[in-house]
Amino acid sequence: MSAIQKIKGFADLFPEDARSFTHMEANARDVFGRFGFGELRTPVLERTELFAKGIGEETDVVGKEMYTFTDRGDRSLTLRPEATAGVLRAAIEAGAIEPGRATRLYTFGPMFRYERPQKGRMRQFHQINAELLGSPEPQADVEVILMLEDFLSSLGIADLCFELNSLGCRECRPDYRSALTAYFEALDVDSLCEDCKRRMHTNPLRVLDCKVPACKALVADAPAIGDHLCTGCREHFSAVLSLVDKAGLKYTLNPRLVRGLDYYQRTTFEVTSGAIGSQTAVAGGGRYDGLVQLLGGPDAPGVGFACGMERLAMLMQKPEAPRPDFFLAVTDTREGSQAVDAAILLAHKLHMRGMSGECDYSAGSMKSRLRHAGRIKAKKCYIIGAEEFDSGQVTVKDMEDGEQIKLDLAAFD
Ligand code: HAM
Repeated sequence: MSAIQKIKGFADLFPEDARSFTHMEANARDVFGRFGFGELRTPVLERTELFAKGIGEETDVVGKEMYTFTDRGDRSLTLRPEATAGVLRAAIEAGAIEPGRATRLYTFGPMFRYERPQKGRMRQFHQINAELLGSPEPQADVEVILMLEDFLSSLGIADLCFELNSLGCRECRPDYRSALTAYFEALDVDSLCEDCKRRMHTNPLRVLDCKVPACKALVADAPAIGDHLCTGCREHFSAVLSLVDKAGLKYTLNPRLVRGLDYYQRTTFEVTSGAIGSQTAVAGGGRYDGLVQLLGGPDAPGVGFACGMERLAMLMQKPEAPRPDFFLAVTDTREGSQAVDAAILLAHKLHMRGMSGECDYSAGSMKSRLRHAGRIKAKKCYIIGAEEFDSGQVTVKDMEDGEQIKLDLAAFD
């Protein structure tokens, strides 16, 4: 019978890969904790309307990529395609957002998007996500950008590029949207891809982000958002830039950076790497004033980001497996011998003393056991052979200097 296989675009993470994820989570907890962020865990399933409303019906994420189904109670539910909407839903529901007071939350976990899988693009992927709610100040934008930089540098990833833009606000964006639509209408519209023919009316900013070469060429001379920002947005963005300059962060301005989710206002940013193929964004985020209110909460602004853990894992060095304190081998192969029982009881006592290590039940030569102990970099190899068992002892070989001593099993009681 053929074995059941995993779903396309979903991955299993065995210890070697899972270690990278654990390492990222530990660093995020450490860095974010120092910035005063607390961990929030939200469900992977939410009501579909949360994402439709929060992310925007016109986005690819909501329009094409959500894992949506009707449950047995006839409710439309969706596996979260991102964390922000769920974090806000939870914070609003718990009454945790107060305008004028910063609420800092981070979350990790799997997200689901029905995209075409390729290197760095999965249907189930993992994000590390942080949100700062309640502060309209440009300093809050800079705080999360600097926290993201701190976190990424803690992973030792070099050659990352921070790209920054401002997308304006409800006041000035309509003017920019009209300017864009007018620009596209004056072009040979037929050369735009089918999606962009629709987007130029429904969501013209997304045309700027289209990866189709013909569309890319057509947007080259499109009006830039920077020329259409209102005074408030211009001042906000220049305060952000001046502060990141003071902090010494290297970045590039990218007036075409529009992001794939509709909730952004003012500052947006992405961190890219040229080292992971075509999916270059390892993190993205920005300010989303108005979203808390749109989701039924108070009039509180917010700013945050998410990192893609699979993409970061491709860039960071894999953490080494921790060295076990011991490897315990049984070389007493006599029929009916209780040496394996003695070994598992000894291993248990060592574990209870806080030592790490594993017990080998299988029969094999002493040489092959020592080779295995060396391969897993065990600090000591404990051996219970026939002689040791009969005398109630264990041989302990130091794998570094080769020194060997015999200890009484009773000494571990
Ligand atoms: P996003 O840009 O859609 O933003 O996703 C953030 C990061 O998740 C991306 O930069 C990428 O590294 C990773 N990612 C996205 N899709 C995939 C995929 N299919 N496979 C692997 N990795 C992927 C957000 O999700 C916003 N919620 C970020 C945010 C938080 N903005 C404000 N607060």
